[in-house]
Amino acid sequence: MKKIKVMTVFGTRPEAIKMAPLVKALEATEWCETQVAVTGQHREMLDQVLEVFAIKPAYDLAIMKAGQTIEEITTRILSKFGAVLEEAQPDLVLVHGDTTTAFAAGLSAFYRQIPVGHVEAGLRTWDLAQPFPEEANRQLIDVFAQLYFAPTQQSRDNLLKEGKEAAGIFVTGNTAIDAMGYTVAARPQLTAAAWAPGRKVAGAPKILVTMHRRENLGEPMAQVFRALRQVLAEQPEARVVFPMHKNPAVRKLAQEILGDLDQVELIEPLDVVAFQNLMAECQLVLTDSGGLQEEAPGLGVPVLVLRETTERPEGVQAGTVRLVGTEETAVYQAVTAMLTDEAAYHKMAHAANPYGDGTASQRIVAAIAYHFGLVSTRPADFTF
Ligand code: UD1
Ligand code: UDP
Repeated sequence: MKKIKVMTVFGTRPEAIKMAPLVKALEATEWCETQVAVTGQHREMLDQVLEVFAIKPAYDLAIMKAGQTIEEITTRILSKFGAVLEEAQPDLVLVHGDTTTAFAAGLSAFYRQIPVGHVEAGLRTWDLAQPFPEEANRQLIDVFAQLYFAPTQQSRDNLLKEGKEAAGIFVTGNTAIDAMGYTVAARPQLTAAAWAPGRKVAGAPKILVTMHRRENLGEPMAQVFRALRQVLAEQPEARVVFPMHKNPAVRKLAQEILGDLDQVELIEPLDVVAFQNLMAECQLVLTDSGGLQEEAPGLGVPVLVLRETTERPEGVQAGTVRLVGTEETAVYQAVTAMLTDEAAYHKMAHAANPYGDGTASQRIVAAIAYHFGLVSTRPADFTF
């Protein structure tokens, strides 16, 4: 039997983490020839993930440049990816989420009339400025994609509202949860219960911070860091761990505002196993990351989101995620409440998993097999 060639393409840390379980699931089939291409939009942070999951890409465009602009990322991918497609001749190209890698690589495949499958399709804020440029990237990908792997029912509904054909949409859960099956050893239920806010306990409250969104660079980020400084001055037992994104603009500001505090550890990005196990041990997550909003609820760790809006409303609805924005007073008050108000803390600190059951990759593989006529039964949708 002639194998179906499925190419996965990714370039940044979060795409790599969420595509890795899918690559493994595709490799486990007999009918698929799995091709992995990376753009190298991130270099060090991508390579960390490739190493953890032992993935060796057949193609690496190596496009990263320090201080790269969005146009540079886009044009460098467009100018290089066509040759990869020419050589590999995939039957389907899978892109992930909302990065410029996903948009540019998907566009390149579309120009060559190769069907595009969008993993993590249908997330929306309907605000092109938040997150920027990701909201535009994901909407644009969904214009030229043929297959949509929507993580939740709500993301499916967003696609239907835009007039996408129901036949091409599969609700799969998010592969982020599949990835945690490879990484996290800790037992989620124990995490939140182990900490009693406002009381002396073995181990001081540990807050995990990550921040990198383009629209937060500069003043919004400075406000958040100043708010944290104030919280820590009033909560001498509290500790912050901040694995800093490689973006120099993030690192400079974090060093300037938080660098002199003994209560703060500013560290290098952790590999995904170390990072997610650290998250499982922490009492609170403060972040503008997309992926952390999906992962932390599964671990029972409350998340304060440093953004005005989110494309991931399911965590907010499940009660484990709260939008606080980046305004200094709002952040100060929200973090302080989590450290001092036991009832408020425990209301948020429960495990919920609206994003998946750990088998999203299997559903995507089954959907691809169905699309190519290898099986006659459409896979059942993920429901929460
Ligand atoms: C990109 C994505 C964003 C995603 C984020 C995940 C776009 C436009 N943005 O944003 O959607 O949430 O990745 O982290 O696609 N750098 C390094 N080494 C690395 C990685 C980054 O030095 O391994 C530095 C480079 O100087 C680079 C800067 O970080 O210029 C920013 O990286 P870039 O990929 O342009 O944007 P992100 O903010 O990481
Ligand atoms: N992550 C990691 N090491 C770190 C910080 C984050 O492995 O030091 C993981 C995290 O578990 C999640 C992903 O990276 O899976 C999130 O990446 P990021 O916040 O850069 O991007 P976003 O999710 O916002 O697109």
